[in-house]
Amino acid sequence: MIPYKHEPFTDFTKEENKAAYLEGLKTVEGYLGKEYPIIVGGERIFTEDKTRSYNPSNVEETVGLVSKANKEHAEKAMEAAKEAFKTWRDTDPSVRADVLFRAAAITRRRKHEFSALLSKEGGKPWKEADADTAEAIDFMEYYARQMLELKDGKKIESRPGEYNKFNYLPIGVSVVISPWNFAFAIMAGTTVAPVVTGNTVLLKPSSKTPVIAYKFMEVLEEAGLPKGVVNYIPGSSSEIGDFLIDHKDTSLISFTGSRDVGVSIYERAAKVHKGQNHLKRVIAEMGGKDTIVVDSEGDLDLAADSIVQSAFGFSGQKCSACSRVIAVESVYDELLEKVVERTEKLTVGDSTDHENYMGPVIDENSLNKIKKYIEIGKKEGRIVAGGTTDEEKGHFVHPTVIADLKHNDRVMQEEIFGPVVGFSKAKDYDEALEFANDTDYGLTGAVISNNREKLEQARRNFLVGNLYFNRGCTGAIVGYQPFGGFKMSGTDSKAGGPDYLVLHLQGRTTSEML
Ligand code: ALA
Repeated sequence: MIPYKHEPFTDFTKEENKAAYLEGLKTVEGYLGKEYPIIVGGERIFTEDKTRSYNPSNVEETVGLVSKANKEHAEKAMEAAKEAFKTWRDTDPSVRADVLFRAAAITRRRKHEFSALLSKEGGKPWKEADADTAEAIDFMEYYARQMLELKDGKKIESRPGEYNKFNYLPIGVSVVISPWNFAFAIMAGTTVAPVVTGNTVLLKPSSKTPVIAYKFMEVLEEAGLPKGVVNYIPGSSSEIGDFLIDHKDTSLISFTGSRDVGVSIYERAAKVHKGQNHLKRVIAEMGGKDTIVVDSEGDLDLAADSIVQSAFGFSGQKCSACSRVIAVESVYDELLEKVVERTEKLTVGDSTDHENYMGPVIDENSLNKIKKYIEIGKKEGRIVAGGTTDEEKGHFVHPTVIADLKHNDRVMQEEIFGPVVGFSKAKDYDEALEFANDTDYGLTGAVISNNREKLEQARRNFLVGNLYFNRGCTGAIVGYQPFGGFKMSGTDSKAGGPDYLVLHLQGRTTSEML
């Protein structure tokens, strides 16, 4: 077995790589506007009611018309998943891992096609789309290896005349509700984790990005995944989401998305329904209001680069994005100037055009929400860059910096999920850390400082799941920076980490007298 190493990012300054992406784009353009079925127990079912998935850079362009599952389909999918579980749970874990290894290899061969599809369907610029595809590959490679480590259980003690064993068993049917912002990586990662651990899946991808999820189903089928192990059921939350969360046969719900939805799932899943003979597990990865703290002893150019990249990469539409900067007052003005200067150079436009640093935001609702916060920001602080939109063809928001906010102003507390970053001043480093912690969220954070003691102080007191020193706060890599947050950011499941798969398993002790 080759040791795990993350998938390298593509260097698009090389002509051959540019050409490979453009070739992928051509393939995607060849299937734009197609109709897609749901997939239940391997059967493809086209429904009348369809979701129009469109390109947020150009809202007239249809990426796909995707069938929507209703309650009957969801129930049928549940039956298929329960049936498939009877054999899949007993399938040799190394065979399950092999399916993931093959799926990773297939994805790697088609990586630029998938990245181009992410540019079209999710509005991801090349570099961000490439990272999303790479992360999907990483999840498959990493979780497959993790399963091989777990398959014989863990070592425990036995006394003379006794033989004790500790193993892991799958738990049942998992409902996977995946987001649009890592439409490939998180969708694939949260699907293959239950799969490789022997569970079966009802996959309800975001209705904004269902086509990439359909393409992934094709990859899993080609890799040899038996029918019914993953059932593809895009549909509305009110029609099938709540139905599946409440279903007596659901064992695990793996959700990534907004705080409101995550909290509601957590509450609903706690209720035991008639005929249910187990407690449901919930993995919920929700929002963030992530802070970069800039200390008086930090490198201000590094700080400015880190802020710009973390705030505006994929238009700030990452739960990990930097949306708050807390700078110690002695460096505040100089830092702000450096960030504004860099921000003004960023290009915004069609995500399939390599020249653009930023693409659109995902949809009109998102655009309107961001505009609302820009207006709030104008009252609470001072717009020093951006603050404008371009809505002619797509949903474009210019990267926006809001200065002179109080750390507890609304734009410094509420998740905006767009290219907007707020700046607040702290009188010293202690106060900066105090302000950084003063949010409901606890997902990512970064400290820019060259003072070792201050970094260690943050290691102890800055309460976020992913804390970074002297770098930005986005871009966790599978197997290198396990990802997940504290407080209202979620259940801290640490995706891409060594403890993730056990969340999908139950431990079983057997003790035999010899
Ligand atoms: N895992 C993603 C990141 O770290 C969200 O940016």
